[in-house]
Amino acid sequence: MTQDSVVLIVSDRPDRASLLVRAVENVLLCRSIEPSAALPADLPLVVVIDVTQDEATAAAWVRRVYKLRIPSLQLTNRPPQGAVKTSSAVRTLPAEAPRTVILATLFNLIEAQQAARARLPAGRRAAEALVHRANAVIGDAFEAARSGQPLSVAEVDAGTEVILDAVSDCGIRTWLEIIGRYDQQLYQHSLSVAGYAAAFGAGLSLCRADQMRLARAALLHDVGKAKIPLAILNKPGRLTAEETQVMRTHSVIGAELLARQGGFDAPMLAVVRHHHEMLDGSGYPDGLSGDAIPDLVRLVTICDIHSALTERRAYRDPLPHAEAYAIMQDMGPKLDGDLLRVFHGTVIGSVSDASVA
Ligand SMILES: [Fe+2]
Ligand SMILES: [Fe+2]
Repeated sequence: MTQDSVVLIVSDRPDRASLLVRAVENVLLCRSIEPSAALPADLPLVVVIDVTQDEATAAAWVRRVYKLRIPSLQLTNRPPQGAVKTSSAVRTLPAEAPRTVILATLFNLIEAQQAARARLPAGRRAAEALVHRANAVIGDAFEAARSGQPLSVAEVDAGTEVILDAVSDCGIRTWLEIIGRYDQQLYQHSLSVAGYAAAFGAGLSLCRADQMRLARAALLHDVGKAKIPLAILNKPGRLTAEETQVMRTHSVIGAELLARQGGFDAPMLAVVRHHHEMLDGSGYPDGLSGDAIPDLVRLVTICDIHSALTERRAYRDPLPHAEAYAIMQDMGPKLDGDLLRVFHGTVIGSVSDASVA
């Protein structure tokens, strides 16, 4: 199954969904899922949203699919809301439209999307495929951490290779632009920090093994957040002091989780445990300072802070790169000034206004 060949039907009417699946799968791979299911990591070509019993869920699916620029056909009892109404890639039909009309509209969308994909430059198509792959790897890693299963070290390494290749081939700007279309903020942040780390490692002319070490550590630096309650992790606003204390446990939880399962070396565990330490001793969890904080940790900390400042949060827009850099400069003795300047020269200069929305 390739990412380009699947029609996904999200439906709360199983009988109708199976009729559609049968009609479409003569032409393309097609499957249906319930509205409560997650969007598959292999993104579909076109999505049919047949969610008629719960308007909020239907609207959430329309937004999710629209954000990923996947054309969709919504079967609805109401007209669509807001900006999506104007997009030619979002079609709507009455919930009880005849099946022939639904199929004609759907095949029209499929043909348009296949033509659009064919027009994409090969490099961009390859980059999108690599991002899908890396996103699946980070999703699996967080899922394993959440459910207490061991993470696959081989998979993490494969995902890290993918990130190094994608950032080296297409640049950090394209990387950020593509991951900006994903809507799982935690995965997006991990991929963003890992992308910055890949670009930073290349900018520092590290050997491939050290670039791998840096990007792998960046990819899993927040793995402990898999154990933070979702009400805190996904809170649509600033955290209270007590919630912040809970959130801050993620670095110790992550390091202990990876140490318990084995397969990750001490420098990697140090990044996961110490990426919120500051050189002046004001960070957490151990209040380390100066030489007690290894270079690998300092590098990931810079990537992490820059990434967080330039990502959208529920309570603020993403900051422009120049503003994020100015804030980091103002952090003075907390960060390694030499590394920060190299980060600016080798990474920030090449992303200019790109941001993770
Ligand atoms: Fe963190
Ligand atoms: Fe982070």
